Amino acid sequence: MLTADKPYNNLPLLPPSNNEVETIAILKQESKSAVALAELKGLAKTLPNQNILINGIVLKEAKASSEIENIITTHDNLYDALTLKNGHVDKETKEVLRYKEALFTGQKYIEQKGFLNTNGIVEIQMVLEQNNAGIRKLPGTALKNGSTGETIYTPPDDTEAIRTLMKNFEDFINSDDADFPVLIKLAIQHYQFESIHPFYDGNGRTGRIINVLYLIMNKLIDTPILYLGGYIIKNKADYYRLLQEVRTKNAWEEWIIYMLKGIEQTSRETIEKINTINNLFEKTIQLAKEKSPRIYSKELIEHLFVHPYSKIEFLCSDLTIDRKTATKYLKEMERIQILKSEPKGKEVIYINTKLYNILKS
Ligand SMILES: Nc1ncnc2c1ncn2[C@@H]1O[C@H](COP(=O)(O)OP(=O)(O)OP(=O)(O)O)[C@@H](O)[C@H]1O
Ligand SMILES: [Mg+2]
Repeated sequence: MLTADKPYNNLPLLPPSNNEVETIAILKQESKSAVALAELKGLAKTLPNQNILINGIVLKEAKASSEIENIITTHDNLYDALTLKNGHVDKETKEVLRYKEALFTGQKYIEQKGFLNTNGIVEIQMVLEQNNAGIRKLPGTALKNGSTGETIYTPPDDTEAIRTLMKNFEDFINSDDADFPVLIKLAIQHYQFESIHPFYDGNGRTGRIINVLYLIMNKLIDTPILYLGGYIIKNKADYYRLLQEVRTKNAWEEWIIYMLKGIEQTSRETIEKINTINNLFEKTIQLAKEKSPRIYSKELIEHLFVHPYSKIEFLCSDLTIDRKTATKYLKEMERIQILKSEPKGKEVIYINTKLYNILKS
């Protein structure tokens, strides 16, 4: 119910007051997280080919983020679905791939417009959920405790209130006033978005996509390579509890620190991953140069890193070579143990197993 003192179902408009969200503990953690993220941004530029990381990392995030909603698939299924022409793709895998599509939809949106508004967010959610229900119009949405079924939180269900809150949310994420550091704003906006809960479903996943887009919009990363999905799964109970405690206890500090720690940890993990990939890339180049000097080319090795699952057709179009040459290349790379072939239905795929294992882990 909307009343004069609680106009939006108890959800205040943004921003919260500075002394709640800029405590010393928050600011300390914020600078650690910002350092880690800046290091990640710099290191990502050193990758020989940006697509190496993006594809692998986006798939991993799609998988992790969807798991929060209990949509489970495997890395094998995901890569198979991307590689095979006539393979069977199960429902769960399709759903996870939609997360990836929704993310790229959002990325294109902010590239074209330079901002993210409600229309853009509705588009993202539409791709994700494959329906055009849009912003909630009917009451009845409630967040329930998974095991007891007890209602934990009822988001605003008055259309007018949702619109006002979304407009206020838009203003907050697009303003570049230096009121709060960007990473603190990231945590604030994520709480607010989840609390507005503008859609019937997909609010968690849409919110996690907004998070990475927000980092790109603010130039803290150039490409979508930092994801909190894995961190949130690992710390899921805290995630739910802390969201709720902002509401019930005004516990902004713990929530913001939780998110900031996620950014620091995930940046560090991603940095390590990039270093490992860079090493493997160099080693693979050395090996191919040594053992297959007549076939070796940097483009060939790059291809095998952009497509950890490759096949003749991919290599043909990527290097503009004929099938016979592509077959020869792939077989030779298998002979020197850079690739491992696997028959899948009528096709044969070639797996860069060492890279695949790094991306998967
Ligand atoms: N107490 C709470 N207050 C505000 N938001 C909450 C609360 N508890 C959970 N949420 C948010 O609601 C999301 C779930 O909403 P919804 O089912 O619409 O999203 P989803 O994308 O389908 O699911 P999931 O986030 O589990 O993948 C959670 O991910 C979380 O972000
Ligand atoms: Mg859901």
